[in-house]
Amino acid sequence: MTIRIDYSNMLAITDAEEGGGDDETGGIPERDWTAAAARFEQVFAEVERLYDAGMLGFLDLPDDNDLLLQTKDFAYEAGGVFDDVVILGIGGSALGPIALRTALRPSGWNALDDAAREGKPRLHVLDNVDPETIAALLGRLVLARTLFVVTSKSGGTAETMAQFLVVYERLEREGLDAAHQMVFVTDPERGALRTLSRKLGIEALDIPANVGGRFSIFTPVGLLPAALMGIDVDDLLDGAADMARRCESDVLRENPAGVFAMLQWIADTRFGRHIHVLMPYADALRDFASWYVQLWAESLGKIALDGTHVGPTPLAALGATDQHSQVQLFMEGPADKTVTFLAVTARSTDVTIPTAFPDVAELSYLGGHTLGELIDIEQQATAGALAKRGRPNMTIHLDTVDAWHVGGLVMLLELATIYAGELYGVNPLDQPGVELGKNFAYALLGRADAGDALREWDSLPKPDPRRSV
Ligand code: PA5
Repeated sequence: MTIRIDYSNMLAITDAEEGGGDDETGGIPERDWTAAAARFEQVFAEVERLYDAGMLGFLDLPDDNDLLLQTKDFAYEAGGVFDDVVILGIGGSALGPIALRTALRPSGWNALDDAAREGKPRLHVLDNVDPETIAALLGRLVLARTLFVVTSKSGGTAETMAQFLVVYERLEREGLDAAHQMVFVTDPERGALRTLSRKLGIEALDIPANVGGRFSIFTPVGLLPAALMGIDVDDLLDGAADMARRCESDVLRENPAGVFAMLQWIADTRFGRHIHVLMPYADALRDFASWYVQLWAESLGKIALDGTHVGPTPLAALGATDQHSQVQLFMEGPADKTVTFLAVTARSTDVTIPTAFPDVAELSYLGGHTLGELIDIEQQATAGALAKRGRPNMTIHLDTVDAWHVGGLVMLLELATIYAGELYGVNPLDQPGVELGKNFAYALLGRADAGDALREWDSLPKPDPRRSV
């Protein structure tokens, strides 16, 4: 079992391979790649310092037996009691559970009947405060058979608190006991959810203080919904631990997360490849790409130490679907992208394409192949075509989509994000840029402590009616 990154198409073809002449591959020249090794040693040392200072709590999660036990105990007690689980949360509290459901449960999980789900609950994740979605969901759930998992690291995010208030009031109105229908996942000490947990007698599972939202998939944020749905959380953590071990080397070429981060950073900062596409060729990994988008964007899009605005723009795509949508842009649009493919070697199911209509050229060549072969060959063809047009790309190969590989992939990209933060000169763990918008929203909603924000809002130029159509 392994996860392998093939980055041949990220590097420039050498003169010898090309038969001399100018490089038109758009790849990173070998000399830059060779020089990157020394830079990575510094990055690695700095990341070790961050770890020693206790800032990279997510690296300890695969070995955190307390959290695993909390999660397993709760999931065991909840077994058979609930038909539906609803995550109230947003951002890093929501994208991980969605990605795990799509990747690791059978396709169309929420539409399957109880027998097909082997008695495990459906999983709904709000990730927004759109009243139409929430009203529709609450309208169709049997509340007495529903568990609401209120997930917030800070324990005070406006959207999540609003979701909580709506659901709590609904439970009260229906005469249901919130202590039975709800569980909190939050910081062990801080925040309104922790206080409410004590006050209302609602059980609360921990997100360690040194683990932030988008790095929290291996805490009960991801583990609890996973365990409730019957996903093997031990395998998930084993895969993560294996990847963390593979990344213990300061030799760039031996460190998968280092390779990913360094290639993307060089491509962005030296060769103008500012957009980083993640393109799985498996529907099961579609939502994983959205999880990556948040991780890469919120962690790296920042003001660097030297005052410059930095950060790559991540983009999610899906193969083969987006070959009929975005790939045209990737091939012939601005040369400002890298594409990372996720390719799967063995799929749990395959379907043979029947042989029929031998006289119809558009159909006859397909017969006898499988859909798995078709999607794999399309991935290889797209990678080759991009390379041929000088569009750098790499492929992360997974043997299969299972808990072990998904755990490894999560750890690979989380660690790569930390290395990339170091390369860009930003703190990948914070998100100061979202504060101003949050404070304006507080001000407009009348929060008592938002007086300064209200004054700042009032001082902004008002919309000009002449600039409206
Ligand atoms: O990754 C992050 O830190 C954020 O996206 C948070 O997850 C998001 O803002 C929600 O925050 P919280 O978990 O505190 O409710």
